[in-house]
Amino acid sequence: MSNDGFENKHLAEKDEESFYNRGKNYWSTVEPTVDGMLGGFSSISAIDIQSSSRFLCQFFAPIQCLEKGSRENDLHVAFRENKLCLDCGAGIGRVTKHLLLNFFEKVHLLEQNTAFLETAKTYIGQETFAQRVDKVYACSIHRFEPDSSIKYDLIWCQWVTGHLTDDDFVLFLKKCKSILNKDHGIIVIKDNHTSSNECDADTKDSSVTRPYWLLRDIFKKAGLKVLEERRQYKFPKGLYPVKMFALQ
Ligand SMILES: C[S@@+](CC[C@H](N)C(=O)[O-])C[C@H]1O[C@@H](n2cnc3c(N)ncnc32)[C@H](O)[C@@H]1O
Repeated sequence: MSNDGFENKHLAEKDEESFYNRGKNYWSTVEPTVDGMLGGFSSISAIDIQSSSRFLCQFFAPIQCLEKGSRENDLHVAFRENKLCLDCGAGIGRVTKHLLLNFFEKVHLLEQNTAFLETAKTYIGQETFAQRVDKVYACSIHRFEPDSSIKYDLIWCQWVTGHLTDDDFVLFLKKCKSILNKDHGIIVIKDNHTSSNECDADTKDSSVTRPYWLLRDIFKKAGLKVLEERRQYKFPKGLYPVKMFALQ
């Protein structure tokens, strides 16, 4: 379906509400497992995390390296402060557990499915959850009302922004920008894109897969610059191409 044909941008309020409700209903039927989070592809979780970790290492030093006393020169990165991160569309906390908690002292979760958030406590581990996940926003990302007194070093959004309309995606990014740590905070979007110039709409889970140009256009409309982008390799054939974008 072409982007002109995809009415995302021009959804009437009523249709927009049902777009979001359908998405919410779809996720309420999904098992709170890694397989559920990855649409049956739990086998890609390890390589996904490994590539994300390499990508993040360009910006942040893993906590373990800092504890060992490595200096910036040893790691060839200019360290950014790595205290607080927000995981958007966090699901059961797969990314938080295997990636973000290796880089950040504290992680906050944004996820609309309360059953996933309940599972996150045991999946991440009760003790770690209690000590290091000290805020949970249980709401849809299009209704996210951030606490402006909290500033994040990183905001990570993986496989969730397809559930936003184009306009809400721009608004969401603007909100994220306003709660980034001023000098060094970044947003990472890790998502599928189409191989063509057109959008694919999925009526089952109520999401859209955007073409590369449209993602770039949305980042620009939100006033964000792409600092770095990288393609995800070694995913099985037949899946959409996946890209990581670091935005500021
Ligand atoms: C494909 S899963 C990805 C989960 C996690 N990011 C990961 O990579 O393991 C998509 C997640 O986004 C959540 N989600 C979907 N629409 C959402 C919305 N409008 N607001 C917040 N979360 C949403 C789903 O409940 C689900 O947990």
